[in-house]
Amino acid sequence: MSPVKSGDMGQRGSPVKISDLISLARGAGEILLGYFRKEGLSHETKAGRANIVTEADVASQKWLVRGLSRLCPHIPIIGEEGRQQGWPEKGFYFLVDPLDGTLNFLHGIPFFSVSIAVMWGTKPVAGVVHAPALRESFYAVEGQGAYFNNRKISLQSKTNIREAIAVTGWPYNSELIPWTQRALLLVHKEAQEVRILGSASLEMCYVAAKIVDVYWEIGLYPWDLAAGWAILRESGGIVSDIAGGDFDLLSGRVLACGNESLHREMVRLLNSSR
Ligand code: IPD
Ligand code: CA
Ligand code: CA
Repeated sequence: MSPVKSGDMGQRGSPVKISDLISLARGAGEILLGYFRKEGLSHETKAGRANIVTEADVASQKWLVRGLSRLCPHIPIIGEEGRQQGWPEKGFYFLVDPLDGTLNFLHGIPFFSVSIAVMWGTKPVAGVVHAPALRESFYAVEGQGAYFNNRKISLQSKTNIREAIAVTGWPYNSELIPWTQRALLLVHKEAQEVRILGSASLEMCYVAAKIVDVYWEIGLYPWDLAAGWAILRESGGIVSDIAGGDFDLLSGRVLACGNESLHREMVRLLNSSR
């Protein structure tokens, strides 16, 4: 099923086969599709009017937690919806976003995904991002490359900022909106176009697959980015902090680019929007 050898997780050894993670993500995707564009989907607002949880998020998370705990009963799971028992300080754990792009989902927009990362400390060793309505699956294992619908992806981009499609997102925290607006205007002046697609995990993967050229956003959660980071890193893409330094998953700020010169341009633009 998967070109990545099952059971091998790079230098750290394997807690789980990538093919099992892909099957779980696809199962969660089927659950989501069962609710997609259905009348009367039950939902409630979390903090901020765009931050929503639906019955589909909860059903998907239940499926993932059940499946992951069957596969690896001793590995902790942190999921967006549901109880969290603090951040594991060492060893493996799973980081799960059962539905990334809930607002799109609620409105019937097919750009949403399921995201599962296998973490070691603060870094992913493997990740799967599956977009069921688009029939797109991305996955990667550290040291074994990144795959898009079972085809290996290796980023070789020469795109410059004038030809680039850049993608960003609106943070749920309203205090972060002014910076995002300033950055968006500056990037819009230089890039071919700026888009807001609405699923951070999938936006990371779109950079990896060279469908878009740049993605930046602030105010994110670790489960929005962990699996996409694994995939983008393995594809050869550049992932950093918005100021160009090392990416810190817990900071919620990311800049992902298809090549180094685009990255330099973006760091310059984002630094001048402070
Ligand atoms: C959200 C999406 C969105 C991003 C938000 C995220 P959710 O995740 O990834 O694109 O702009 O900041 O929180 O809430 O749909 O899982
Ligand atoms: Ca999310
Ligand atoms: Ca979510």
